[in-house]
Amino acid sequence: MSFRYDGSGIATVYDESRALADDVRELWALVIREHLAGEAVRRVLDLGCGTGRFSALLGEVLSARVVGVDSSADMLGRALAKPELARVRFVRAAAEALPLRAGAVDLVFTNLAYHHFADGPRALAECARVLAAGARLVLLTPTQETLASFLWMRFFPGAEAIDRRRMPARGGPRRDARRRDGRLRLSLAPRPVDLRSLASPARERQGGCTSIARHRYQQATER
Ligand SMILES: C[S@@+](CC[C@H](N)C(=O)[O-])C[C@H]1O[C@@H](n2cnc3c(N)ncnc32)[C@H](O)[C@@H]1O
Repeated sequence: MSFRYDGSGIATVYDESRALADDVRELWALVIREHLAGEAVRRVLDLGCGTGRFSALLGEVLSARVVGVDSSADMLGRALAKPELARVRFVRAAAEALPLRAGAVDLVFTNLAYHHFADGPRALAECARVLAAGARLVLLTPTQETLASFLWMRFFPGAEAIDRRRMPARGGPRRDARRRDGRLRLSLAPRPVDLRSLASPARERQGGCTSIARHRYQQATER
């Protein structure tokens, strides 16, 4: 199953359902800082940046210039309208064909986007190309192994089967990274989760929930 980000209205509710509360933002800042401690990061690619949820945060935490790349005009439209993202350069492009020169960035950060890429291995090869020598790709994604640990799955049993079909197995991106380009430094970093976001009415329009029958969604939210 692939999501249509353009023309589906998802962009209009995306930030509402996935807004980062201040304390969660702090947690993310901590994780990013600790994960990349000691690495010189001046130029960041936020790949599949969507509405730019992480673009400014990355720039602030790492004191770096950020370019956000996404294939959706609607998602980028939201990002471009945010004054706090004025310093981020946004480009509409596919992960599989990045309009950046070789070695252009010191970090590729990609959150919740890998499973959407039409050709994951091709996107990883592009990441390897645009990363400077020794620089790192931080890939954050649910995997088939972690789905059952998501609390909200208990309330939406149908969603786990749906997500199982579209999420990679943990070894997938690692194998693809090795196969396509041995020089790619890939890390699967921990991902802070905000349980409060699960109570948002806009959740219905997100992730596996979009594919659950409406009456089942309502039954689950009433529990
Ligand atoms: C779930 S959103 C994540 C957005 C953002 N990273 C975040 O964490 O809020 C997934 C994003 O990936 C983008 N996307 C999907 N396929 C893509 C591709 N092939 N190349 C670039 N972006 C893509 C979508 O347009 C969407 O904005």
